[in-house]
Amino acid sequence: MKTATAIANPNIAFIKYWGDKDPDLRIPANGSISMNLGDLHTVTEVIFDANLERDELILDGRVPGEMAIERVTRFLDHVRLLAGISDFARVTSENNFPIGSGIASSASAFAALSLASATAAGMKLDESSLSRLARRGSGSACRSVPGGFVEWQAGEEDANSFAYSIFPPDHWELIDCIAIVSQEHKETGSQDGHLLAETSLLQEVRVADASRRLDLCRQAILNRDFEAFAEVVELDSNLMHAVMMTSQPKLLYWQPTTLAVIQAVGEWRKNGTPVCFTIDAGPNVHVITPGENSPRVIGDLIQIPGVSKVLVSRPGAAVRLVGD
Ligand code: DP6
Repeated sequence: MKTATAIANPNIAFIKYWGDKDPDLRIPANGSISMNLGDLHTVTEVIFDANLERDELILDGRVPGEMAIERVTRFLDHVRLLAGISDFARVTSENNFPIGSGIASSASAFAALSLASATAAGMKLDESSLSRLARRGSGSACRSVPGGFVEWQAGEEDANSFAYSIFPPDHWELIDCIAIVSQEHKETGSQDGHLLAETSLLQEVRVADASRRLDLCRQAILNRDFEAFAEVVELDSNLMHAVMMTSQPKLLYWQPTTLAVIQAVGEWRKNGTPVCFTIDAGPNVHVITPGENSPRVIGDLIQIPGVSKVLVSRPGAAVRLVGD
């Protein structure tokens, strides 16, 4: 039996990935920038065992649905091919945050699964190879492989579509205060959502302008310029949700409380607090603020009717093995 355990953080995208050039290989329509969330994590153990007759998955203490198992098997088939092995695996994965509601659990899940399965299969992959591997499981997972603030260069093919660190976690103490509006599993996951992106009239213009927004975001992080950062992050999130809302069929992830948080954040910024929002494929709102403001922002968020709790995270590190 060959085994390894890895831990990975999810990430929040400041410039979003939405839509693919190649859905099978998950070559994205545009590059993206994110920050790893160091206080949230997935820990995944992989055991390749010659006695197993199929891959087995335990997710947060439960056997998940067939679709989740098939997704893991498809991923492990690729690992087995790369490593030249044939044993099935028992995969046990634990999250310390709610999955499936716009906190990218698939990102930390597939980043941890990549390192654990590659290691258990006897492979030592460098960071970009590991990021490319993670990308096949979930696009955003490639950004949870390197540490801190991360850019995923879109690339054109498997070989040049991977993520790398642009700044270490301690470059800027940005805090992600995630206002939890709902913990329900979302109806349309991002996997199906990406396929719909092209059906929106707005996707072409969103993608055409992406490199300008990537430049603005990179510069704003480099200079720790919160005003510039807030402008481009909110614009990028709104552009993605505009694409979602205008795709066919339309996707509307927001709930009334989502909008209440957006409006509150706008008011706070107008009144001088450095704070901005970004939203993934779910109703929860990621409220970003520099460290010194976070206690007040968290206290104010929890007062908004409909916000059930606030998860808080600092910038996080790269994927790593546990018990090494
Ligand atoms: C809205 O990486 O979750 O969070 O590859 O199908 O797993 P799959 O998609 P995923 O898409 C992320 C979409 C997003 C934006 C982002 O994180 O960039």
